[in-house]
Amino acid sequence: MSLINTNKQIVITAYSLAELQTALKNLITSETIIGLVPTMGALHEGHASLVRTAKNTSDFVIVTVFINPTQFNNPDDLSNYPKTEDKDIELLKSLDCDLVFFPQVEDIYSHDYHFPGIELGFLDQTMEGEHRPGHFLGVCQVVYRLFQLTQPQKAYFGLKDFQQVSVIRFMVNYFKLPIEIVPCETSRNNNGLALSSRNLRLTEHQKTEALVLFNTLEQAKINSKSMTPIQVKKMAEQSIKNSSLILEYVEIVEPNTLNNLQTSWSNHARMCIVAYSGDVRLIDNMEIRE
Ligand code: PAF
Repeated sequence: MSLINTNKQIVITAYSLAELQTALKNLITSETIIGLVPTMGALHEGHASLVRTAKNTSDFVIVTVFINPTQFNNPDDLSNYPKTEDKDIELLKSLDCDLVFFPQVEDIYSHDYHFPGIELGFLDQTMEGEHRPGHFLGVCQVVYRLFQLTQPQKAYFGLKDFQQVSVIRFMVNYFKLPIEIVPCETSRNNNGLALSSRNLRLTEHQKTEALVLFNTLEQAKINSKSMTPIQVKKMAEQSIKNSSLILEYVEIVEPNTLNNLQTSWSNHARMCIVAYSGDVRLIDNMEIRE
């Protein structure tokens, strides 16, 4: 464990379970409200905004940085996932994060950890569940373990992964965990591109091309005033197909059940899009109806 202290800013870094446990024993009381921000690193302004929200609404903020192998169904995606540990620590320092935990694989998947298993039903059969088999089980496996190790009262997740937030909420209810899930708005660059660690793998040209996602979502908002969900979805599909991106899916869903909307609108209907720029998988979503 080390205390990194520059310009009065301190972040405690723990690189093993033992270091985490020592730090928590020394710093946490039964009164402390722990806020957890689970990440896979390559931190950007989107993560920074999660940490800021956590700092404002809990007493002690833990950020975990762990590229979880069990949630990658594509081995290339796992091996290409960006790693920027030193920069991550610098950013967390500037945000006044209290502790950053870089667990080892054996800390997470230790021989005495058995994920109890969960039946996610439709949540795991639609959109990301359909296109990334096993992904959400991997996410549940790791997040459940991170909850177990850090014992947070609150956990912060970005709405860019809208379906992931639904899955985590479902898991918390399923296991009756005493943890409040705090969803945080998607951070975007000035042009509207949703911030993502995977953007590090895009050229400037690809970043410009990727704006079609944001523009399509914005147009869907306008179209939803005069068209049915099916019509809006068709227009969105066409807009992506007319671009250089390769479309994986567009869906318009009821935000609680994730049921597809076809002929009539629900409140807070969301459009979710996934498309590829080269081999980089881009995901975005937006509420298109109030
Ligand atoms: O959203 C992510 O970065 C990951 O899915 C998470 C929640 C950190 C679990 O590995």
